[in-house]
Amino acid sequence: MAESKKENNWFTSSMEWIDARFPATETFEYHMSRYYAPKNFNVFYVFGVLSILMLVNQIVTGIWLTMNYVPSGTGAFASVEYIMRDVEYGWLMRYLHSTGASFFFIVVYLHMYRALMYGSYRGPRELLWLIGMAIFIALMAEGFFGYLLPWGNMSYWGAQVIVSLVGAIPYVGPDLMEWVRGDFLMSEATLNRFFALHVIALPLVLVILVFVHLVALHHVGSNNPDGIEIKKKKDDNGIPLDGIAFHPYYTVHDVHAIVIFLIFFLGFVFFAPEGWGYFLEKPNFEMADPLKTPEHIAPVWYYTPFYSMLRAATYPLFGLPAKFWGFVVMAGAIIIPAVLPWLDRSPVKSMRYKGIWSKFMLGLLVVSFFVLGYLGTKGPTEGRTIAAQVFTITYFMYFMLMPWYTKAEKTKPEPDRVTL
Ligand code: HEM
Repeated sequence: MAESKKENNWFTSSMEWIDARFPATETFEYHMSRYYAPKNFNVFYVFGVLSILMLVNQIVTGIWLTMNYVPSGTGAFASVEYIMRDVEYGWLMRYLHSTGASFFFIVVYLHMYRALMYGSYRGPRELLWLIGMAIFIALMAEGFFGYLLPWGNMSYWGAQVIVSLVGAIPYVGPDLMEWVRGDFLMSEATLNRFFALHVIALPLVLVILVFVHLVALHHVGSNNPDGIEIKKKKDDNGIPLDGIAFHPYYTVHDVHAIVIFLIFFLGFVFFAPEGWGYFLEKPNFEMADPLKTPEHIAPVWYYTPFYSMLRAATYPLFGLPAKFWGFVVMAGAIIIPAVLPWLDRSPVKSMRYKGIWSKFMLGLLVVSFFVLGYLGTKGPTEGRTIAAQVFTITYFMYFMLMPWYTKAEKTKPEPDRVTL
């Protein structure tokens, strides 16, 4: 008893010393023990914390990989083989990183889908959503640069296809492409700059953006599956009636989610790290060869929906090549969710209370995304190109028709308090 009192004193006095110099307790209270989150979070609310987990995983395993990786045209492929075979637990670091990239995208896509379902992008969370979009674009760039580093044949040709899109921009394209590559073809100069961007520039950008994302979230407060603002109904102490202190309730809840997620994630890392060719593609087990194009050039699964849309543009228009329009469609598909807060005109936020059209269009978006994702993993045929064109249109319809269908449909009344 006396022992614990002594410890308590020591702890309290240390905290006092720190608090006089740094707002440690204040920050903890603001963001954890006095941050009131809605009581009705469901399973879709775990993907934010799982995204943080995956970001940390990528950074930590990435640091270890960098210790043995050699960013040179002759050394890169061999150094990855060396990591896999000779470095102690190198295989584990590599698989945690490469399989980790796929799981990172799985949790981020589910995180974004949750926002679409519950209208989390709507006011007052527009800026939170825009920061999220910036994270998403930075994450796509991070994955793209990282994929070149093993210098496998798919790394080489995948990067070649994407970088060559820059060349389709009128007037400045060819010069710009040379500037991006740092050479007349994909080479060691390209590998070096992609390495620099992958290991330092973009991770830094991502960490800063995630920090800002969380600051914005805690300023406005979390949305919830009912899409109603818990800050509107407070008790005499100013605490939301439908809120619960984030710590300890949701911290324990999140640890639970992390454990379950790790069982799945590590199951893949140990038993199916290549994800049957979807996480690590077969041609990437051969070294980059500028003279040997893989039979089908396909990016990793998390880019394939957008890659399909790139290939869906097959007609030149206004004197510009189809490739240029493919680039425009692909970039448009990635960026268009950013304007969602201004497209949604519904009187309610959550899908629970929206009408049939919103539900149907969200369903169609999901189907389009999966079909396009599948088509992007396959070589093009005439039938597949037509299917990609149709589903590209249905993908864009979700966004472009939103101002109309969210206004026209009949909605259900929102409840006063959250439903448990
Ligand atoms: C590295 C990637 C990301 C991390 C670490 C991250 C982290 C988080 C965390 C911890 C939360 C609170 C918990 C939760 O609501 O799940 C959150 C909420 C949110 N995030 Fe993210 N996020 C990431 C990417 C994104 C992206 C790409 C978007 C959208 C484009 C996004 C949009 C949102 C929104 C709208 C909320 C509030 C949701 C609500 O209250 O209903 N986030 N994020």
